[in-house]
Amino acid sequence: MGEFLNGWKRTCYCTEPKKSDVGKEITLMGWTNVRRDLGALIFVQLRDRSGLMQIVFDSNVLSKADFEKASSIRSEFVLAVRGTLALRTGNMVNPNMETGELEVIVKEFKILSDAETPPIDTSDNCNASELLRLKYRYLDLRRPCMQKNLIMRSRIAHIAREYFHENGFIDIETPVLTKSTPEGARDYLVPSRVHPGSFYALPQSPQLFKQLLMLSGFDRYIQIARCFRDEDLRADRQPDFTQIDLEMSFVEEDDVMNVNEGFLKRLFKETLDYDVQLPLPRIKWIDAMNRYGSDKPDTRFDMELKDLSEAVKNSGFSVFQNAFAAGGSVRGIVAKGATKEFSRKEIDALGEFVKTYRAKGLAWMNWKEEGLQSPIAKFLSEDEIHAISEAADFRQGDVLFIVADKNDVVWQALGALRLKLADKLHLIPEGKYNLLWVTEFPQLEWSEEENRFVAMHHPFTSPMDEDIPLLDTNPGAVRAKAYDIVLNGNEIGGGSIRIHSSELQSKMFEVIGLTKEQAEARFKFLLEALKYGTPPHGGLAYGLDRLAMLICGTASIRDVIAFPKVQNASCPLTNAPDPVDEKQLRELHIAVTDFEK
Ligand code: AMO
Ligand code: AMP
Repeated sequence: MGEFLNGWKRTCYCTEPKKSDVGKEITLMGWTNVRRDLGALIFVQLRDRSGLMQIVFDSNVLSKADFEKASSIRSEFVLAVRGTLALRTGNMVNPNMETGELEVIVKEFKILSDAETPPIDTSDNCNASELLRLKYRYLDLRRPCMQKNLIMRSRIAHIAREYFHENGFIDIETPVLTKSTPEGARDYLVPSRVHPGSFYALPQSPQLFKQLLMLSGFDRYIQIARCFRDEDLRADRQPDFTQIDLEMSFVEEDDVMNVNEGFLKRLFKETLDYDVQLPLPRIKWIDAMNRYGSDKPDTRFDMELKDLSEAVKNSGFSVFQNAFAAGGSVRGIVAKGATKEFSRKEIDALGEFVKTYRAKGLAWMNWKEEGLQSPIAKFLSEDEIHAISEAADFRQGDVLFIVADKNDVVWQALGALRLKLADKLHLIPEGKYNLLWVTEFPQLEWSEEENRFVAMHHPFTSPMDEDIPLLDTNPGAVRAKAYDIVLNGNEIGGGSIRIHSSELQSKMFEVIGLTKEQAEARFKFLLEALKYGTPPHGGLAYGLDRLAMLICGTASIRDVIAFPKVQNASCPLTNAPDPVDEKQLRELHIAVTDFEK
């Protein structure tokens, strides 16, 4: 059993003492990081959340009993040490350690807790699988890089609260047991015990409540809010995640964007000492798709998509003509000066790659020194090849990749290929943070699966004023007052100006295929509320996890979440989700059927 503190107080964190403090008595508390036993001297690197300090157990300083006790110290033992801060000399200095010129000569110490050998390495050299790390997450979180990540995340949340409060935003909490808020994912449901057969939904976002708060007159709202979405997990998605969520009254798009630009400028300065130039660039959705094949373009490098449709509009090549017949286009991207970078095998692999984005194939031209190599050259005239190279700025030494299909397939396939090529060709610069707004999103997109229009952002987003009449005639062409904020090819936030009239909101529900009855059943409270005096309002929500991931420079949002879930939405640490007792199910009026054990 470990010793008790008995009134001992820590005087500082491990990395707080400076050279000017040498000679002072200090008390440190922390974990045994590394231990070296040299017989008459034992060195321990003591670790706390600030970092490391070398502490020295000297048999000439300590009693025999104490020195024996010190000999029993092993990795991850928790210690409290009192001693004198000393300067290290000569080759004892460790230039790789923040406190490498200092050490503590121990006079008294306590072993507060011993520790079994941990199943994973608690240093940054840990090479355990992520599954094992997550099973022992509490140990994994001892690693300095994980501590750094979570401390940075806390700073980001703090800066957000500070900035928005300074700008008149009020922090208001909204319920977690609530009614469905559609944001395009499945709901997590919670059965009600007192209302048999009824369910709460966990919020996909606080969207409707923050709108109601504008209606109540709070004018500016912020919340760091947990959101829950049952959707396929990826490196940038978790089933429960956190938004920095805000809403403002009496505003248009510019007002929301301006206040957020101020936030982003402060955030990047205070976290990364990076100067964001304002105003941020803005790009319309249609231009983002045409130029980058993505609604979250990574603008740290060029390699833009080129529309070749005009150049090949009269071509007899069936692949191109089929695309035109389907209302599509022919587009390409050029890998400049990369002719030697691609073997035939690699190009074939890229052809398979674009197929995962529904492209039927990948045409290419490799303009080598000895001439043009291309499987489609035989289908094209000299003039057409010339027109293509002019349209694409395709020159000797370059490789051109072409996809012909419906626009959304061409955009997606080439957009993904663009990122893959940039990675392969090392075109993405380090240390650059390209923030930009994507605006004028389509209001609606056609869902083949559901055979109806669905809201691209959410159904509470306002159409652009001049496009409102199109809701009746050509819904697919309606643009929304919606904007996303994009960082280095990641959507870190999104928002919109909202519909503030009950009639228009009803109309929008109708356009997305809800019957009057369905709209009433799901959103009666909103439709009613909008009738009692609603200010024009709009807002935005950042994905805090994504923002933290990008600022910390990690590859996955799991690295900035204390206890994340894995791919199948389970938690390796707690084993959630779990079966529950029959009794609990009975109380909830739930019978579990139809599942494989
Ligand atoms: P949206 O659905 O775009 O908008 O979400 C806003 C931001 O939240 C982050 N995000 C996620 N992060 C981690 N895991 C997820 N599963 C996940 N889903 C979304 C993204 C995204 O940009 N109510 C609106 C906002 C508004 O209109 O004000 C909303 O939720 O970074
Ligand atoms: P095919 O006539 O199907 O043999 O295709 C000739 C070449 O065009 C092959 O290199 C295919 O990979 C390519 N190709 C086929 N379909 C498409 C498409 N939709 N877009 C671009 N290239 C394609």
